[in-house]
Amino acid sequence: MTNDNEPGDLKPSAETPVDKIIAYHDRTKHHPERYARGLNGLDWATQPNPFRRFAGAPVVQLPLAGGDDTPAAAILFGAGTTTPQPFTLGSLGMFFELSLGLSARKEIPGMTWYLRINPSSGNLHPTEAYAILPARAWLPGGAGVYHYAPLEHALEHRGRQSPAGKPGGDEFYVGLTSIIWREAWKYGERAFRYCQHDVGHALAALRHAAAALGWRVELLPEWTDAKLAGLLGLDRPEDFAGAERETPELLVRVMTNGTTEPTPATTDAPVEWFGSANRLSRAHIAWPAIDQAIAATERTAPMAEKSAVPALWPPPAPPACAHSSAQLIRQRRSAVDFDGTTGITREKFLAILDTTLPRPTMSPFDAWPFPPRLHLVLFVHRVTGLDPGMYLWLRDLADEEPLRRAFHDVPDWEVPADQSAAVPLRRLRRGDLREFARSASCHQDIAADGVFSLGMLAWFEPVLRERGAAAWRELFWEAGMIGQALYLAAEAAGMRGTGIGCYFDDMVHQTLGLTGHDWQSLYHFTVGCPVEDLRLRTAPPYEHLKL
Ligand SMILES: Cc1cc2nc3c(=O)[nH]c(=O)nc-3n(C[C@H](O)[C@H](O)[C@H](O)COP(=O)(O)O)c2cc1C
Repeated sequence: MTNDNEPGDLKPSAETPVDKIIAYHDRTKHHPERYARGLNGLDWATQPNPFRRFAGAPVVQLPLAGGDDTPAAAILFGAGTTTPQPFTLGSLGMFFELSLGLSARKEIPGMTWYLRINPSSGNLHPTEAYAILPARAWLPGGAGVYHYAPLEHALEHRGRQSPAGKPGGDEFYVGLTSIIWREAWKYGERAFRYCQHDVGHALAALRHAAAALGWRVELLPEWTDAKLAGLLGLDRPEDFAGAERETPELLVRVMTNGTTEPTPATTDAPVEWFGSANRLSRAHIAWPAIDQAIAATERTAPMAEKSAVPALWPPPAPPACAHSSAQLIRQRRSAVDFDGTTGITREKFLAILDTTLPRPTMSPFDAWPFPPRLHLVLFVHRVTGLDPGMYLWLRDLADEEPLRRAFHDVPDWEVPADQSAAVPLRRLRRGDLREFARSASCHQDIAADGVFSLGMLAWFEPVLRERGAAAWRELFWEAGMIGQALYLAAEAAGMRGTGIGCYFDDMVHQTLGLTGHDWQSLYHFTVGCPVEDLRLRTAPPYEHLKL
């Protein structure tokens, strides 16, 4: 199926990949008077299957966690220590269950759907995961590449590695990919952005699950897209005949033994492949602008040189929470409605924001080996002890002066009363911003009815010019990671969060007096006191495996 409202090239005159991705970025902005190009209404007949399977691939069933012996939730926010769980089939199952597994089954009469530990725009779940495992007595297929199937909580053996090429020690790897069509089905051209947000959420979810097990995760920036596609078998058209393509995103190393120092990644491509990918929709609509954005942002060289996460901030001060880490991870949900009245204390508000600061030993940003590029523009509605208004949360104080110079329309730049300047909160404007926040988030009430909402402001074009167009994807990943940190921190504070992918980018820029592309708002988020939708029945996630 083709899409006749589709113009041709993204920007025929654009010469460089960076120009092309900036053109895609601009073209996929929502504006109050014009939303990014999509379909008018959903075609339910082509709704994509949210679960990829590889027919014919041998299946390894992962055990479901029986009890919960995970440490207190503070470990997810860098506070406390725990003994690493030994690397077994059970702990591997727990790792996937707590990162990318199912979290609940939702039902209304005539309809059932699943939620997952990791959130996803529209619950469409474009992110797929592969484990690259070493040979172990408990792994019947031996060393190789295994696709994680969340509905079955199972691994599908996609590729057998030669024993000589297996990764050694107590480490394994996880590769993430995107099936862009899953998002494009609903969101049209803007879908590529959401897929990248979802990758960031999934990366942070992997890191949080590892923290609950006492394990560590590090991103491997040296993996180009072609190399990753080769490792994961994405470049084997014969295995994807008639099925939707998967694009490579990233590879991480998971270190299950807290004491060993990582060795260079030695993951060889498999020597034998199994299984064929299922087709997720019976028809598709082409979105050439997305294909061009994928091509423009292909990672052909390593990401930027890895740098140690700087020790910029004092020790973490996470929200006090009596939950275990598994409990907190499992209960994360997106709020669909807030009560519009409940507030939070300034202490809790700051504790939520504190979890977004990059620290060398704190999940999830210890897995992100690049300097922070995003800051938070906050719309504060109901925080006791803080005037309602617009605030800035600086994730790196070194950006304070550049931002102050860039904001041309900000009346104040003040450290709030009773607060040290070392706390990176600045007041930009006093006032009731509920209506503005609602409008800027595509008129969604959740941006106004909570305790605060925010836009994530990224140092944008200079980063792309310096690091190349593939860094556009990394900025969205970082935004997704911040979102995931906020989701868990909101739960720990007795609140609930929701990622907001629908927002009017330029409305936020205009209110700050930002011009050009140096800074761009990449993602919105909101936190508040949730109101449950009582029409929905919620059932445990894996009842179907226990029958
Ligand atoms: C990138 C992203 C964008 C999202 N955008 C919105 C949004 O604009 N409005 C909204 O109500 N929810 C939004 N959500 C929340 C999703 O709808 C939610 O994650 C999904 O329905 C799954 O539910 P769960 O988070 O409770 O598991 C977004 C989530 C993500 C990850």
